[in-house]
Amino acid sequence: MAQPPPDLLATRHARVRTALGREGLDALVVLHQPNIRYLTGFAGSTAIVILAPDELVLVTDGRYVTEVETRVAPGCPGLRLVKVDPTYDATLAAFLRGFDVPRVGFESAHLTVKRFEALTAALRDTPSRRAGALIPAERLVEAARIRKDAVELETLRRAGALISAVARKVLGGVRAGQREWEVAADIDDRIRRGGFERPAFDTIVASGPNGALPHARPGERRLEPGDLVVLDFGGVYDGYCVDITRTVSVGTPGVEARRVYDAVAAAQLAAVGAVQPSAAVTDVDEAARAVLEAHGLGSAFSHATGHGLGLEIHEEPRVGPRRADIPGVPPAGRDDRLEPGVVFTVEPGAYLPGFGGVRIEDDVVVTESGVDWLTDVPRELLVV
Ligand code: GLY
Ligand code: MN
Ligand code: MN
Repeated sequence: MAQPPPDLLATRHARVRTALGREGLDALVVLHQPNIRYLTGFAGSTAIVILAPDELVLVTDGRYVTEVETRVAPGCPGLRLVKVDPTYDATLAAFLRGFDVPRVGFESAHLTVKRFEALTAALRDTPSRRAGALIPAERLVEAARIRKDAVELETLRRAGALISAVARKVLGGVRAGQREWEVAADIDDRIRRGGFERPAFDTIVASGPNGALPHARPGERRLEPGDLVVLDFGGVYDGYCVDITRTVSVGTPGVEARRVYDAVAAAQLAAVGAVQPSAAVTDVDEAARAVLEAHGLGSAFSHATGHGLGLEIHEEPRVGPRRADIPGVPPAGRDDRLEPGVVFTVEPGAYLPGFGGVRIEDDVVVTESGVDWLTDVPRELLVV
């Protein structure tokens, strides 16, 4: 597992510290593991990070102390290890009691009400702190993660090439008579043998009518002549997720299958064609949606056109339609603009209950001049 270079970590710290300043915060308690990994390179399951203008503290427990001392801290500018004693939240509360700043933010999307109340109680009446409360903060690290840096892009490009190689082998092996779960097991095996740490999510193999469920679970059904089969899978490579979908036809496709497939393929090309620096993500979604609507498939396209990829399989930006604000939900995607280094999926689909479905998904990166595909697998309808 590669530790990000120190200069890139320092740049990430600076970006989030700028965001702290903008929000009027003196420190941020980082609780979401992918955010912790982004800021420090620490890839274990549990830790807490406190980031302040002059502080970067990583709290972790005995399982990870040696790893942090030998690998993470030496490569992470300014990182100070604090060992858990006796629990995470007691250690955090003790640290914050001794840390004399009034405005401490915390990742409110990643702290249970129970923990929040316990921490607030532990910090109440702290003489060294002028204000005892923790301040909810949202998306400070997530926003920095949208635009990938050089090392992240290199990792994602490599991962895109690897998952493409896996996909070509998978597609070459699909046969009538196989059960959905057998195909899924073969995919997962190939993902691991293909250089990935693990599948990025539960592999989807949805045949015939099951294809009408965008997130179907592979079951006992056997692939039959006349089926369209949606195969959606991804891998985690050095911590980074890639995600691809192809839809194949078992035997010669019928007229309707061909029509729906061609419409989805055209929608995907239209969406990728709309990708360029400063384009609104909603315009990318609109490009795909307009094609499907023109084919009478607008209502069959029941999800967003895509999502960001990185340390998480679904992250910002949300490449979806314009929508009204939802109270308490950040307006992710509504006015987001693309910029070079943003990586996301383009995955339009059409889902027709009783008939089946088509989805075609690739991963792309916004470049200075337009867009590059990270995945490279034929997009014509494959007949198996
Ligand atoms: N299979 C999850 C996705 O494509 O978003
Ligand atoms: Mn996806
Ligand atoms: Mn997918």
